[in-house]
Amino acid sequence: MRDASPQTIYLKDYKPPEYLIHDTDLNFTLDNESTRVVASLTMSRNPASKADDSALTLLGENLTLVGVQLNGDILSTDRYLQTPEALVIHDVPQHEKFVVTIENTLNPKANTALEGLYLSKNMLCTQCEAEGFRKITYYLDRPDVMSRFTTTLVGDKDKYPVLLSNGNKKAQGELPDNKHWVTWEDPFNKPCYLFALVAGQLECVRDSFITQSGRRIALEIYVEAHDLDKCDHAMQSLKNAMSWDEKTYGLEYDLDLYMIVAVGHFNMGAMENKGLNIFNTKFVLARPDTATDSDYEHIEGVIGHEYFHNWSGNRVTCRDWFQLSLKEGFTVFRDQEFTGDRTSKAVKRIEDVNALRTRQFAEDAGPLAHPIRPDAYIEINNFYTLTVYEKGAEVVRMLHTLLGPQGFRKGCDLYFQRHDGQAVTCDDFVNAMEAANDVDLTQFRRWYSQAGTPVLTVSEHYDSDAQTLSLTLKQDNPPTPGQPRKEPLHIPIKTGLILPDGNLAQCRLQGSDQVSHKIVLELTDTEQTFVFEQLPQKPVISLLRGFSAPVKLKMQRSLEELAFLLSHDPDTFNRWEAGQLLAGRVIAELVDDLQNGRSLEINPVLIEAYLKIAQNCWLDLSYFALLLSLPSEIYLAEQMPVIDVEAIHTAREFVACQIAKHLEDDLRGLYLDNHRDESGCFDAKAIGRRRVKNVCLGYLSKLDDTEIQRWSLKQFDTAKNMTDQIAALSVIVNTQHPARATCLDAFYRQWRDEALVLDKWFALQATASPPDTFDAVERLLKHPDFDLKNPNRVRSLVGSFSQANPLHFHAANGQGYRFLADRIIELNTLNPQVASRMIGALTQWRRYDEARQALMKGELERIMSTEAISKDVYEVASKSLA
Ligand code: PHE
Ligand code: ZN
Repeated sequence: MRDASPQTIYLKDYKPPEYLIHDTDLNFTLDNESTRVVASLTMSRNPASKADDSALTLLGENLTLVGVQLNGDILSTDRYLQTPEALVIHDVPQHEKFVVTIENTLNPKANTALEGLYLSKNMLCTQCEAEGFRKITYYLDRPDVMSRFTTTLVGDKDKYPVLLSNGNKKAQGELPDNKHWVTWEDPFNKPCYLFALVAGQLECVRDSFITQSGRRIALEIYVEAHDLDKCDHAMQSLKNAMSWDEKTYGLEYDLDLYMIVAVGHFNMGAMENKGLNIFNTKFVLARPDTATDSDYEHIEGVIGHEYFHNWSGNRVTCRDWFQLSLKEGFTVFRDQEFTGDRTSKAVKRIEDVNALRTRQFAEDAGPLAHPIRPDAYIEINNFYTLTVYEKGAEVVRMLHTLLGPQGFRKGCDLYFQRHDGQAVTCDDFVNAMEAANDVDLTQFRRWYSQAGTPVLTVSEHYDSDAQTLSLTLKQDNPPTPGQPRKEPLHIPIKTGLILPDGNLAQCRLQGSDQVSHKIVLELTDTEQTFVFEQLPQKPVISLLRGFSAPVKLKMQRSLEELAFLLSHDPDTFNRWEAGQLLAGRVIAELVDDLQNGRSLEINPVLIEAYLKIAQNCWLDLSYFALLLSLPSEIYLAEQMPVIDVEAIHTAREFVACQIAKHLEDDLRGLYLDNHRDESGCFDAKAIGRRRVKNVCLGYLSKLDDTEIQRWSLKQFDTAKNMTDQIAALSVIVNTQHPARATCLDAFYRQWRDEALVLDKWFALQATASPPDTFDAVERLLKHPDFDLKNPNRVRSLVGSFSQANPLHFHAANGQGYRFLADRIIELNTLNPQVASRMIGALTQWRRYDEARQALMKGELERIMSTEAISKDVYEVASKSLA
């Protein structure tokens, strides 16, 4: 246990930097085990700082200091002080510019935390967000210090033939001893978290893009030679993103070169370093036989995300890390819209809401709940959360809803115009929205400071004499850690009214003269009643269309009403939602039956509804596949006061079997109709066909029918694309198919050299439902291809098991919990960021029965007593127990 608990940083303590760094000149002599860095920083006092301190404190961690100079004079050791976290230079000039030169060394190979400069296989690369630059050299490592970077890389020609950094290549040359050098210059001021360098044996795919103003941008994707044939999709995605941002936001790329490097060891998805994005290979590499349709979609989304950061994040950056959602929430919103435009808006929205409601809602209801703009943290890396990213995007989406697309665009234009080149706050963003639209968003700002998911309770009253429908909406904002009481929020609720014949009614709101088929209700009070007039018949109300606010909606609905919406709601989100609510209700009743020892019987309303879906003709086949799918076990669990993993699993399986039985002919027909022998076909129709087909195969496989078993085996053997192959394998693995072991083995042998496919092989086994899953997971941990130092592999085995296999992770004997805690303790020293993310499943301990609570708490306590516990792990574990 650490002796002093680590320090908490507060938003309220923000002070402008005491010094500025105008120019940052970096010189790297690269070596896998001892890289030498010489940093020359041209600095001056910050006139905006009120502090009166002639000492300069530069932050640095894990560095070996060689020497310090001030304006070219070597400083003797009494002129500065070194601490484990900083270098303090006692006296620096207060009235003129000065140059501090620091020389230090560091060991990239020993850096398993993958923050700062590290080695990914044979490639040197960096990750500086949030506070990794201080592991490269001593610096003012904070985002509001923006500087012009010039970087020279020197290294062995054979080991590091490619030398990359931000901006434009300015000069290069040869040196004795088989060395060479390259100088890069980034003309844009940037904070050091956007710095990057890459050095190694890389191959490059090149293309170009002509901007709307006619400039030609060189595009380069760097990968290992063996992956050169998997870059086409990433390159096309980049071009799509560039033209989308021009068309949608009028934003053009600014440098002449855009580079993406794919690395196999990466803590997160990707990083938007200026002009030199570094990506997890997972979000770059794709070939039809190695990547699924969803992988293709995610790659385009992440490429878009990092590209969009060039404006929302780089040109306008964050003042401090509490403002993280300023760039992340906004950029996630931008990438969601991009993907929606590129694929299917309906499907993308449903996928995003699914992610939000399963994972983010759990976070917001748990011990680590925080506002999208947190007000305190111990370790900032712990705040790259679903709340900051996904809920942050929902908050931006609500602004879009309230202001309308044009108003929102005006606000964005003003924001970029006002703040280009600055480090700003979430408030600056809202201010721009207000000013551009002449609205008051005072109350709306509470979304930035209040944590927790609001609960919206709805009651309706139809008055046939007055021909009015009154809708009463009540918002409850539950307490969260540190926030016992909340103020009401400004909540936009997209609404429509559907008449019994399926036609739409006009919404005529009392007190407003607008008449339209759809309307945005603005809930601002704790309780508010909206009256719709001139309704001779009682309509069915469609509320919170498109999931227009991140809230939990509570509304009394009969199963028949839900079935009606499922057939008639023109809002694609609510139509799908009606089916999910229907299935959720039926499954919840079955859970209750199981818990009370009653035998299970399927509710015919559900079967009828699913039959109707199956027999309807759908244009968007991916949407059809979602309509056919049951809510996930994790989403069902989210709805229960005390989570009963076994009952949820049994009840959901029962419903799936019943659907398979009652819809067997339709499902078989759909499978055969949508089955094609095709490989590299990625249009919406082909993707949709695969989704429908594989959902049907999933249902049919529950029937224990030898013909269906032959279908899955054949699909597995003959698949020409990863979507079909992995879908078949999943069915085989989860149904105790006689060929289970053979197929798993064949898949391994086919793909043992493709790390990303092997990740799928690990994940599939970790999320399987058969009873021997835990033993398999323990065996896989000892598999020669398992590597605790590779975050993708850890996520695929340990992450999948603990976060996506509730049935086995929550085994009553606690073996799943113990397994996870052991891994976290091992990871704590190797990679604290990954370790702390793996705690996720344990933080939710209060949601389970007493016996499981005690077991999970016990493991959290064991984690807390880890020797040399990292700040990352300490913060999450201690807050979970508090
Ligand atoms: N800023 C990155 C993104 O959202 C995420 C990231 C954070 C990557 C920290 C690495 C480290 O695109
Ligand atoms: Zn981002």
